[in-house]
Amino acid sequence: MKHIVEAGYDVIAERYVDWSAQITDDPRLRYLAEFDERLPDGAKVLELGCGAGVPCGRKLAERHDLLGVDLSRRQVELARANVPGARFEKADMTALDLPEGEFDGIAAFYSILHVPRAEQPALLAKIAGWLKPGGLFLASLGTGTPDVTETWLGVDMFFGSNTPEQNRALIAEHLELVVDDLVTMHEPGPVAFHWVLARKG
Ligand SMILES: C[S@@+](CC[C@H](N)C(=O)[O-])C[C@H]1O[C@@H](n2cnc3c(N)ncnc32)[C@H](O)[C@@H]1O
Repeated sequence: MKHIVEAGYDVIAERYVDWSAQITDDPRLRYLAEFDERLPDGAKVLELGCGAGVPCGRKLAERHDLLGVDLSRRQVELARANVPGARFEKADMTALDLPEGEFDGIAAFYSILHVPRAEQPALLAKIAGWLKPGGLFLASLGTGTPDVTETWLGVDMFFGSNTPEQNRALIAEHLELVVDDLVTMHEPGPVAFHWVLARKG
């Protein structure tokens, strides 16, 4: 499945930026602000599935020490060009080998929903491990799409997500939920995402 996602985003990296910029009710910058305001200046932040670095990476890098990772080489090239003040690496978030307790914050905007459902519990456990005590995790998760490959923005794309109930239970194994919202935005058709902000105890 990862090769489908990687190949797809290598083709649609620029198309995705233009398409997502047209979504007028995307709440990602609002949730980013809730995450950002809880972090100190110079916080170490990891962004998983950072895409082209805009708008989220650019905003996070204004005040924080940002490492962005993305599966797609083209996305990483664009992110490096768009956000010269941050570090970006091409990597599969599920295969990252990072030190425990390294980050003040970890964010994932619309990216974990490209990880097969069965791999998400282990990924959430790793994310919790990478956070410092008191660290924050922000994500827009899916709402229960069975693992599926379909045509999206003109390419084959893989999606998979657990239900909000499952997401809550998985996160609660490791972290304390601070924000737990189901939000529908228009792409332009309505699509719901599960926004979570959680803290490591
Ligand atoms: C819908 S885009 C979102 C990009 C960016 N976060 C944003 O909000 O504009 C999803 C991104 O997640 C990346 N991605 C998907 N699966 C990944 C994985 N296993 N590891 C790292 N990045 C992944 C894709 O390559 C893509 O750039």
